[in-house]
Amino acid sequence: MKALAVRPGVAHSAHVAELAPPQLEDIPDDRGVLVRTLKVGVDATDAEINEALYGNAPPGSDFLVLGHEVFGVVEAVGSAVTHVQPGDLCTCTVRRPGSTVYDQIGRNDITSDEVYFERGINLLHGFLTERFVDDAEFIVKVPVGLAHLGVLSEPASVCAKGIEQAYLAQSRLQVWEPKRAFVTGAGQIGLLTAMMLRLRGLDVYVLARTKNPGLKQEIAEAYGAQYVSTEETSLEQLAAEVGRPDLIVEATGNSGIAFRCMEILSLNGALVWTSVTGGNRRVEVPADKINVEWVLGNKLLVGTVNGNRYHFEKGLAALALAEVMYPGVTERILTTPVHGIENYAEVMRLLTEDKTALKVYVEVADL
Ligand code: BGC
Ligand code: ZN
Repeated sequence: MKALAVRPGVAHSAHVAELAPPQLEDIPDDRGVLVRTLKVGVDATDAEINEALYGNAPPGSDFLVLGHEVFGVVEAVGSAVTHVQPGDLCTCTVRRPGSTVYDQIGRNDITSDEVYFERGINLLHGFLTERFVDDAEFIVKVPVGLAHLGVLSEPASVCAKGIEQAYLAQSRLQVWEPKRAFVTGAGQIGLLTAMMLRLRGLDVYVLARTKNPGLKQEIAEAYGAQYVSTEETSLEQLAAEVGRPDLIVEATGNSGIAFRCMEILSLNGALVWTSVTGGNRRVEVPADKINVEWVLGNKLLVGTVNGNRYHFEKGLAALALAEVMYPGVTERILTTPVHGIENYAEVMRLLTEDKTALKVYVEVADL
């Protein structure tokens, strides 16, 4: 069985690997779900792993199968599995339980283990292969009406969790009624987050560098958000013009911008950091100014990563509601399919070089 793999630590090592086909019995207690992979999205994390900036192979393996954004169809289930059956469409969560209390209560997305296990990213093989098997706990059913958006399930879960974390943390204020949100970055996380914040009724500004980017701007506007090019209006200028945002979701992948966001947040505001930055960037910040404003303004910074099955379900619910509120918009994110795992070089090229590719995904098989 073919798989798209890299050798972690070796830059540009993407290749096709051979794997033994998975068996239901690989999962104990009759809890296995065998899935045939249909589509797998790739993102900046995959690019960073292929740049050898991030990620590790499973113990005993010299390669790591990539792929953490999966959409597939259930092929077989163990006798203890009740929530999916053969023929169901599904996705699969990414992080697997470690040893902490959070892992024991099904919140492996917030494990406090330093070493975490993520399929396709760290220490576990991913989904960019013809079939995979996993415990029923990690398999999330995708409604048939969302088949065309199924490959966005994982990114949607990340956005749903980030927003949820902000609202949960802001319960510290007793009342929090955010009106204005800035979303920095207009990739899949930025756009899906903008959509989810629009569904909550906020005024949303999506900030990204490119002037007149075409599709990204069209999608943001079709969700009822405003697109702002930072080549024309800086973060600071926008805050001065329209008012400081109550909520900022940072999704540019640029840690310098993550820190700049700290300077423009409103009093009592929440800043959510989502960018996974594997590099080594250094920035100078006005530390006294930020510090005193955060103290006097009771401001919140929350880091968020990953999602458990509940966030996947929330993400899917938001994708479904968006189909009603903004019909046909979300599928416009899915710009760039690549046919077949063997076209790995093209996948990596599109991911790193093609600025018009909003979302690259691999079509592994037809339904
Ligand atoms: C994935 C998350 C993962 C994170 C950190 C992201 O690209 O979407 O599921 O937790 O990387 O490895
Ligand atoms: Zn990702």
